[in-house]
Amino acid sequence: MRATAIAQPNIALIKYWGKRDVARNLPAVGSISITLSELFTEMQVHLDARLSADTLTVNGQADSAMLPRLGSCIDRVLGDGRPHAEIRSRSNFPIAAGLASSASAFAAITVAAAAAAGQSPSTAELASLAGRASGSAARSLYGGFVELANSEDDIVVRTIAAASEWPLNVVVAITEAGPKAVGSTVAMETSRKTSPFYSSWIEQQDQDLDAARQAIHDRDFSQLAAVAEHNCLKMHSVMWTSRPPVVYWNSATMRCLQAVRDMQADGLGVFFTMDAGPQVKAVCLPECTDAVRASLASVNGVTEVMVSALGDGARLVEPG
Ligand code: PMV
Repeated sequence: MRATAIAQPNIALIKYWGKRDVARNLPAVGSISITLSELFTEMQVHLDARLSADTLTVNGQADSAMLPRLGSCIDRVLGDGRPHAEIRSRSNFPIAAGLASSASAFAAITVAAAAAAGQSPSTAELASLAGRASGSAARSLYGGFVELANSEDDIVVRTIAAASEWPLNVVVAITEAGPKAVGSTVAMETSRKTSPFYSSWIEQQDQDLDAARQAIHDRDFSQLAAVAEHNCLKMHSVMWTSRPPVVYWNSATMRCLQAVRDMQADGLGVFFTMDAGPQVKAVCLPECTDAVRASLASVNGVTEVMVSALGDGARLVEPG
């Protein structure tokens, strides 16, 4: 009744922002992401009928902050009347700071919980279960370039190109290590209800998805850069024009964007994207990685720089 799974966060190039159905956590738009290789969350789930409650340790310390959401995620996988779980989580990057830690956490716990109970659902079923906890988590079940399609009652997730088919790198510039001020669920609903740009955001998503899918198919870096930056800035424009405004950026975020613009002017293959946090992710061609890392590390306010290649989907590391 014990299993351990590992999952890597994913970074959306075409973003998910807004829910069609909050109760079932269905996204209002499709999205395309890349799964990273170097950052990880490992989850061990130990189901034991003798436990009187679920428990959670994060990197060796008791920490109940994520426990209600993790517990509900296990409920959805195993159903009511399941035994309580001792959950041990370990990760090598800041949690809840806009680095998609919830994506890797919920992907890993979904895989671990099913295996701990002796179940072997398909990857599509696991993605659907993980997506109920965190929309972006569904994408971390798959590796490489991943598309989440927004169909009527469920989500359909698939790899559209394997990591090895187009080996890009991602340089993550950390500008603030603390947890984000507003969680994505609350912020998405604020945007849906109040941003005058929300309906345009939804209407235009399919054309951005088409452009990104084509750029990935053609391995056309500059086309992917153009549509990914546009889509990211459009999502942040929806956030900024919400009431109250949802602004995750700080001054170092802006300086990182400027550094990426300068590198692009120098001919480097790099583009930026940002999520619900102040960190900047610079996606780059492998040969540009050292220059991108050095440039972002020298930006005033950047406290840490991490480099990752593209990686695989969530998987078991220890059979139950
Ligand atoms: O899956 P959630 O609820 O953490 O929302 C993810 C939202 C963004 O990271 C901003 C965009 C995305 O597609 O990952």
